[in-house]
Amino acid sequence: MRHLTLPQIERRLTVAEGQTILEAALAAGIPYPHSCTAGRCAACKSKLHLGQVTLKPHTRFALTDEEKAQGLILACRAIPEGDVSASWLGEAPADAASPPQGAEVIGIEQMTHDIRRLTLRLDDRARFRFTAGQYLKLTVDGAPARPYSMASRPDEELIELHIRAVPGGRTSSLIMSALKTGDRVSVEGALGSAFFRDAHDGPMIAVAGGSGLAPIKSIVETALATGRDAPITVYFGARAERDLYLVEHFRDLATRHGHLTYHVALSREDAAECRRARVSEAIAADHAALAGVKAYVAGPPAMVDAVQAVLATQGVALNDIHADSFFTPDNM
Ligand SMILES: Cc1cc2nc3c(=O)[nH]c(=O)nc-3n(C[C@H](O)[C@H](O)[C@H](O)COP(=O)(O)OP(=O)(O)OC[C@H]3O[C@@H](n4cnc5c(N)ncnc54)[C@H](O)[C@@H]3O)c2cc1C
Ligand code: FES
Repeated sequence: MRHLTLPQIERRLTVAEGQTILEAALAAGIPYPHSCTAGRCAACKSKLHLGQVTLKPHTRFALTDEEKAQGLILACRAIPEGDVSASWLGEAPADAASPPQGAEVIGIEQMTHDIRRLTLRLDDRARFRFTAGQYLKLTVDGAPARPYSMASRPDEELIELHIRAVPGGRTSSLIMSALKTGDRVSVEGALGSAFFRDAHDGPMIAVAGGSGLAPIKSIVETALATGRDAPITVYFGARAERDLYLVEHFRDLATRHGHLTYHVALSREDAAECRRARVSEAIAADHAALAGVKAYVAGPPAMVDAVQAVLATQGVALNDIHADSFFTPDNM
């Protein structure tokens, strides 16, 4: 029997054979900071005080070799080899997740050929608190629960989600083909560590690929609502013109807020008022140095990895990059 000690909350837990530190903590009901659960986002980065762990594969943006040498680990990838003691480094969001509750689908809109906007009215909205950039677990009858990020601001009554149909995807396909207004769903949350850090009052860069626009919209609109005047740069990357949505909405925000700039990059097609580039290439071309900038990134894993690499090269500190890769986590 292995034990995990968490000095931050003065708890000692047992860890089952093959279980990661994160799995053991979540199984015990501890809100250990995490997001991707797959070694990609760094949200679960932790200090190992005592003991040895085996680290499962992860990206170098989530944990560098230097960090490993300093005794840092990723809790979602770390399997204890004996008794261990660890502390998380990430900030936990202000509000802990609330238990599952019901919701009614009160709106469904087709935003692109494969992205839908769902509007939900929660049975008990006051009980569901979130920070911009977080996600909920959505359960639709007949399909497994999946994470989807809130696109609305935390102070708005209705919850807005943007859901892209993944070819062959169990939940997203069902949402596209069968979910209709008036249907009941279940939501659980809020979860996730790629949330808006309102204490940072410097420049911010927010990068979305496809339906990754959902958390980016919530973060950007929340930042604007706080009245901060530091520059906000938004990049929206897609393949072709038919993949674009809410372009007029963001252009309108840029017109109304002089400190917000909005760029659209299309990787596979030329179109009026859009760059022909991958979004990571557009950022690299536009910014020589980004030290001190806070970065929020969301979208498909390949795009998130490429953007993280460019941001790190341009000088953004790794702990200033808050990223959500949109894929189905290992444990779902
Ligand atoms: C923190 C977080 C937030 C998320 N927020 C959103 C959101 O706001 N909007 C949104 O549309 N999605 C979001 N996702 C992704 C979403 O949770 C599901 O992974 C996605 O909808 C696919 O689920 P599925 O059941 O339809 O497909 P699955 O049945 O899980 O997968 C079917 C097949 O598709 C592959 N696959 C899974 N995801 C992708 C992908 N993104 N691209 C290509 N292939 C894939 C799988 O490997 C599998 O082979 C988020 C994911 C995470 C981790
Ligand atoms: S790297 Fe562990 S939760 Fe993302």
